[in-house]
Amino acid sequence: MFSLSAVELSRGVLDCGGGPASFTAEVSACNYRAVAIDPIYHYTSQEIRARFDATADSMLAQVRATPADWVWSYHRNPEALLANRRAALDGFLADYDPGLREGRYVEAKLPALPFDSASFGLAVCSHLLFLYSDLLSLDFHIESLRELCRVAGEVRIFPLLTLSGKQSPHLAAVRSALQAKGWESEVAAVDYELQRGGNQMLRVFPDRRH
Ligand SMILES: C[S@@+](CC[C@H](N)C(=O)[O-])C[C@H]1O[C@@H](n2cnc3c(N)ncnc32)[C@H](O)[C@@H]1O
Repeated sequence: MFSLSAVELSRGVLDCGGGPASFTAEVSACNYRAVAIDPIYHYTSQEIRARFDATADSMLAQVRATPADWVWSYHRNPEALLANRRAALDGFLADYDPGLREGRYVEAKLPALPFDSASFGLAVCSHLLFLYSDLLSLDFHIESLRELCRVAGEVRIFPLLTLSGKQSPHLAAVRSALQAKGWESEVAAVDYELQRGGNQMLRVFPDRRH
């Protein structure tokens, strides 16, 4: 999703809206500093697993009902998608309790983050901003991007599509707002594609002022 290199990870990474995914567990297992924030980190591992189990069937049914909307390359088919998601959940949960104690998982939510300025080399945010454009306003997106730019030297957001598979209506206005702050951004292609046409991320460079 983010075309990450080891050098980029070595600068410290924040996963914003990390959810029940194994990104932070896997990055910290490679001995890089990784922190995830999400409001669901209020809940216990049992509660998070129960929530996943309660929604898995409907997620699978939605995907099966819209076969033309998906690209089966990384995930070979809907069943493999669910199996991969479950493996990510398991990887996350195995790290969750020690990670809470060690400050790797932090209950927090955009648009305000509990970190000092420039705490991370990179912040990533997947399947939250832009994807939920119908629920999250343009102002929320702009405030969230400003906050991510405050805490990290670079920000990457994936995907740029909404849930209905159209480019987010907020993308252009968000980029203009960032440009008005003097922050460069670019749309870059990535290898990962699940939503058809969803193989792009936004990169924002708060450190690179015009
Ligand atoms: C669809 S999940 C994506 C999880 C993970 N990033 C991934 O790609 O698999 C969206 C996540 O965003 C979290 N979330 C919702 N509102 C948020 C907010 N205001 N700030 C941070 N995370 C939020 C949800 O709790 C959920 O875990």
